[in-house]
Amino acid sequence: MLHHQKKITLVSLVTLAVIATASSITPVGKFKNLKILPQDIPERKLDSIMDVYSKALKVNCDFCHVPPKKDMFNIANANQEMDFSLDNDMKEKARNMMRLTIDINKKYFYTDSMVRPEYLKVVSCNTCHRGNTIPPKD
Ligand code: HEC
Ligand code: HEC
Repeated sequence: MLHHQKKITLVSLVTLAVIATASSITPVGKFKNLKILPQDIPERKLDSIMDVYSKALKVNCDFCHVPPKKDMFNIANANQEMDFSLDNDMKEKARNMMRLTIDINKKYFYTDSMVRPEYLKVVSCNTCHRGNTIPPKD
């Protein structure tokens, strides 16, 4: 009887260990520093949203994202990849704009409850920006 109990404890410990390992290697999402967009956003969805932002403001990614460090003395590193998870002032401004856009859509245009508020686009960046970093006032 005692032997049997020990065996059960061992089995459940092993099960727990397996579950713990599985959850630690399965990340919540691919991205490291999302404060507004859903953590589990699919990569394709994030990419298309970033394209929409770039087109609405008519800018390249590095308008909001920290540009890669150019290391002229290390040819192997000359074209370092950008780290899109880094923050800066422009990215923070853009986050505020995301909050504003989500709020407007959620409050005034939330007609499809199947869509997450972050993905509503009745009002979009382009509604105001139209290819300008700062929308014209007239
Ligand atoms: C108008 C500003 C803006 C532009 C232009 C922009 N981004 Fe972003 N990007 C953001 C903001 C803001 C976030 C953070 C969103 C959040 O906190 O939920 C972000 C997040 C990301 C992330 C997630 C990084 C992580 O791991 O947390 C990636 C990848 C990314 N952008 C790629 C791009 C690419 C590629 C382009 C160019 C095609 C681009 N972005 C253009 C503002 C911008
Ligand atoms: C309701 C209109 C409106 C919407 C929608 C809007 N913006 Fe803006 N945005 C503005 C205005 C107006 C300014 C200029 C604010 C100022 O002069 O300080 C601005 C400024 C910005 C700036 C700062 C530019 C700079 O050079 O300082 C960024 C970045 C930006 N918006 C990104 C976005 C993104 C990304 C979206 C969509 C998620 C968005 N905006 C949606 C009106 C809007």
